[in-house]
Amino acid sequence: MFSPYSIHLGEFDESFFGSLEEASEIVEPTIATQSNYHTVFADNEKAGIVGILKPMTGGVDSGFVQIVLSPYYRGRGLLSKIYELLAETHKLKTLYATIKKSNGASIRAHEKIGFKILPEGKLKFLRDKKLISDDEVRLEKTYQF
Ligand SMILES: CC(C)(COP(=O)(O)OP(=O)(O)OC[C@H]1O[C@@H](n2cnc3c(N)ncnc32)[C@H](O)[C@@H]1OP(=O)(O)O)[C@@H](O)C(=O)NCCC(=O)NCCS
Repeated sequence: MFSPYSIHLGEFDESFFGSLEEASEIVEPTIATQSNYHTVFADNEKAGIVGILKPMTGGVDSGFVQIVLSPYYRGRGLLSKIYELLAETHKLKTLYATIKKSNGASIRAHEKIGFKILPEGKLKFLRDKKLISDDEVRLEKTYQF
């Protein structure tokens, strides 16, 4: 979807993050991970928080996305541009999203911009390894930079 907003990523703003509805849907940044989180600006207004969590082992060019938009900025087609900027800023080729099955809005939003749910075999492997739980799915999208 085309977004008429001009998007940029700024420094993480802790009090803005705390003020966001549904901030608990994402992994809260710590001192160690805060530099990988950003405030999303849409036409210079704070619109949400986006972050990336690096995998524990290997995979320097991949990461797990964390996103929460303030309600006003939902449903406005911002997600695609935000992730392009995130992937570019952190030089990531693959973005992963682990999403609760109950969060249909987020699963649909990610699928709409080209994320694909991993095949059932891979999901089963991740569940067996306790890397995702039974009530979560994982999606991925590859970027070219
Ligand atoms: C997940 C999220 C980032 C999606 O971003 P988005 O830009 O709103 O995505 P979309 O515009 O594609 O909307 C996705 C779905 O959200 C719902 N939606 C649309 N506008 C909405 C609004 N203003 N308020 C609430 N939900 C809305 C719709 O069901 C839509 O699905 P549809 O297009 O099939 O009807 C955003 O909904 C959000 O911040 N949610 C709260 C935090 C969260 O769940 N984060 C993800 C954790 S994995």
